[in-house]
Amino acid sequence: MGKALAIHSYKGGTGKTSISANLAATYAKNGLNVCLFDYDFRAPSLQIIFKEKIKRSLNEFLDEKCSIFEAAVDLSKKYKTKGKLIVGFADPSTEVMREMMTKDRKWEMRALHLTLTAKEALYKQFNIDYIIFDTSPGIYYSSINALAASDYILLVTKMDEFDFEGTRELINGIYNVLGRKAGILLNKIPAMNVPIGSGEVKMEEKLSSIFNLPILGIIPCYCDIQADGGKTLHSLQQPDHPFPQYMEKIIERIAEHFK
Ligand SMILES: Nc1ncnc2c1ncn2[C@@H]1O[C@H](COP(=O)(O)OP(=O)(O)OP(=O)(O)O)[C@@H](O)[C@H]1O
Ligand SMILES: [Mg+2]
Repeated sequence: MGKALAIHSYKGGTGKTSISANLAATYAKNGLNVCLFDYDFRAPSLQIIFKEKIKRSLNEFLDEKCSIFEAAVDLSKKYKTKGKLIVGFADPSTEVMREMMTKDRKWEMRALHLTLTAKEALYKQFNIDYIIFDTSPGIYYSSINALAASDYILLVTKMDEFDFEGTRELINGIYNVLGRKAGILLNKIPAMNVPIGSGEVKMEEKLSSIFNLPILGIIPCYCDIQADGGKTLHSLQQPDHPFPQYMEKIIERIAEHFK
C-alpha cells in the first residue's frame, strides 16, 4: 500500500511547491511510482514547473465533473522517468480560484471523501508508492483536507521568527489534533547560516528540540533557484545542482519514518 505526504507551511513562499515537485521527480527518477497533486487552489503553480496546458483539473474532479483518472496526467514519458510521474493540476484561472473561495463546509467535507477515495483508486490502479500533496500555507480548508488525507507531513519553514512561531502553532493546533506525524524542513537558509561539518548535527539537534519533531533537511538558499523563479525542475533538468541532492536525503529520512 502506498503512502501519502503533505507538504505544508505556516507562511507562504517557504518552498513547498519547489520541494513537492522535486521530491516527486526524484522518487520517479529512482523508479518509484508517484502522484503529485496541486492542492493549492489559492495559487496553483505546478502547471508552470511542468509546463503543461491543463485539460481536466483537480477542481473539476472535486466538483464531480470528471474522474481522478481524467484529472491526473501521466508525465513519465515526457520526463523519461523510470517510475510513474503522475500529476494533478489545479485550475489557475481567476474565475475558478475565486469560485473555490466560496465553497462551503459541506462541499469541503465531500471533497475530503473524494480525495480519500481517489487515493485508494490510484494506489490500486498504478501501484503508487507515494502521493504528494502540495498545499496552500496556513489553514485553508483544502490544505486541511490534504493534511487529513496524508500519512506524514513535511512542514517547510524559513529561518524566521514569525515562521517558527506559526509553525509551532500549526504543530500544536492542527497536526496533533489530526493525529498526524510530521518532520521539519528548513529551507532557504542564508549562506552565512549554512552549517558545515558537525555544525549540521548541532543545528538539527537544536531545531529538533525547538519543534519537538525530527528534522528532515536543512536546505541553503540558492541565488540561481531564487532567480529562476520556479521554472526549472532541478531534479530532472539540472540533476548536478546541489538542491536535488537534498531531495535524496529527505527521501531517506521519510523512508526511515515508515520503517
Ligand atoms: N532553497 C531555495 N533557494 C532559493 N530559492 C528557493 C529555494 N526554494 C525555493 N526557492 C524559490 O522561492 C520561491 C518560492 O518557492 P515556492 O513557490 O516553492 O514556495 P511556496 O511555499 O510553494 O510558495 P506559496 O506559499 O506561495 O505556494 C520560488 O521562486 C522558488 O524558486
Ligand atoms: Mg506553492
